[in-house]
Amino acid sequence: MSQKYYLFTGAAGYVGSHVLSFFLEREKKCIILDNLSKGYREAVPADIPFFQSDISDVEILNQIFNTYPVAGVLHFAGFIEVGESVKNPGKYFENNVSKAIPFLEVVRKCRIPWVLFSSSAAVYGEPVENPISESFPLRPTSPYGLTKLMMEEMLQVYERSFGIRSVCLRYFNASGAHPSGNLGEAHLPESHLIPLACQASLNLIPFLSMYGMDYPTPDGTCIRDYVHVWDLAQAHFLAAEALDKGLASTVYNIGSEKGYSVREVIENLEKISGRKVPVQTAGRRPGDPAVLVASSKKIRQELSWVPQCQSLDKILSSAYQWHKKHPDGFTKSLKNHQEA
Ligand SMILES: NC(=O)c1ccc[n+]([C@@H]2O[C@H](COP(=O)([O-])OP(=O)(O)OC[C@H]3O[C@@H](n4cnc5c(N)ncnc54)[C@H](O)[C@@H]3O)[C@@H](O)[C@H]2O)c1
Repeated sequence: MSQKYYLFTGAAGYVGSHVLSFFLEREKKCIILDNLSKGYREAVPADIPFFQSDISDVEILNQIFNTYPVAGVLHFAGFIEVGESVKNPGKYFENNVSKAIPFLEVVRKCRIPWVLFSSSAAVYGEPVENPISESFPLRPTSPYGLTKLMMEEMLQVYERSFGIRSVCLRYFNASGAHPSGNLGEAHLPESHLIPLACQASLNLIPFLSMYGMDYPTPDGTCIRDYVHVWDLAQAHFLAAEALDKGLASTVYNIGSEKGYSVREVIENLEKISGRKVPVQTAGRRPGDPAVLVASSKKIRQELSWVPQCQSLDKILSSAYQWHKKHPDGFTKSLKNHQEA
C-alpha cells in the first residue's frame, strides 16, 4: 500500500514547522494547512502541498481529504498568547474552539482515524504540587488554557460518538531551535522568555522584562520547565506512529522534568553568549504560577520517548544561534505581518 499523508494544521508556526521538518527528515508525506495569520510561508519547504486556508474552511478540507489519503491530522493551529486571551477571550474561543467544530466535522465525515492535538500545561492552572502528572486537576486560569481544555474534551466526545482517536500532548515551555540553525522561534509579538532574552542580549529589543521577583522560589523568580522543540518533535513522531498502530486516546505531558528560574535562564544565556542581557524588573503577571514542572513519566514509559536535546545549554545555544543568524526572523513574512 502506498504511504499515507499526515495533515499538519498550523505548520507554518514555531512548533509545527519543527515537527514537520522532523517528519520530512524521516521521509513521511505531509500536507500543510495554515492561514498564515501568525506563521511564515518561509518556515516550511516550498515543495510540500500547502493550503493557505483557515481550519474552518470546509471546502478546502474536503478537497484535501478527497485528494490525498490522510492517515491522521496533527493539529497545531491556534492562537497562543495567554495575556491577549485575558484581554480578548472571544478571539480565543472563536479561533481555538468554534473554528475547530467545522474542522472536526469534516474529519469525522471523511473518516480520518485520529487527531494529534497541541495542548498545553495551561490546562492545569495553579498546580496542587510539582512535578505535575496527567492525573492532576484541570483548572485553567486563563481563557487560552480553557480553550485547550475545551478542545481536549471535544476530542473525547468525538471519540465516544464517532471513534476518532486522539492524543493530546500537553507541552510545557517549548523552546530552542532546529539543529541546522535555519528554523527557529519567530512569534509576533513575542511573549516567551528565551526568545526575548536572546533578542535583548543581541540588542534587538531594548531590554527583557522580568515579571515578579517575590515568588516563593529560591531566587524569587518563576520556575518553568523548558522542553527542546526537537524533543517535542520526536514526541509527535512517536505518538503519530503509535496512533497509526491503533493507540487508544490519551494525554501526555511533554516536559524536561527540570525547572529553571527566570534568573537561571538569563545567567546561563549570558554565559553562552558572552553578552549581558539587559533586564527591567516589573510586577507579577496575574495568573502566573510560581512553579510549573512536568512529570513526563507516562510518555517515557508508554511511547519510549527519550529526549535527546534536554539540557538548558542546548536549548539556549540553539535559540541564541537562530536569533543571531536571523535578527529579523523570517524577514519577508515579518514584513507582511507588520503591514497586515
Ligand atoms: N509555543 C509553546 O511554548 C506552546 C506551549 C503549549 C502549547 N502550544 C500550542 O502549540 C501550538 C503551536 O504553537 P506555536 O508556538 O507554534 O504557535 P504559532 O503562533 O507559532 O503557530 C500557530 C500557527 O497556526 C496558524 N493558525 C492560527 N489560527 C489558524 C486558523 N484558524 N486556521 C489556520 N491556521 C491557523 C498560524 O498562522 C500559525 O502558523 C498552538 O496550538 C499552541 O497553543 C505551544
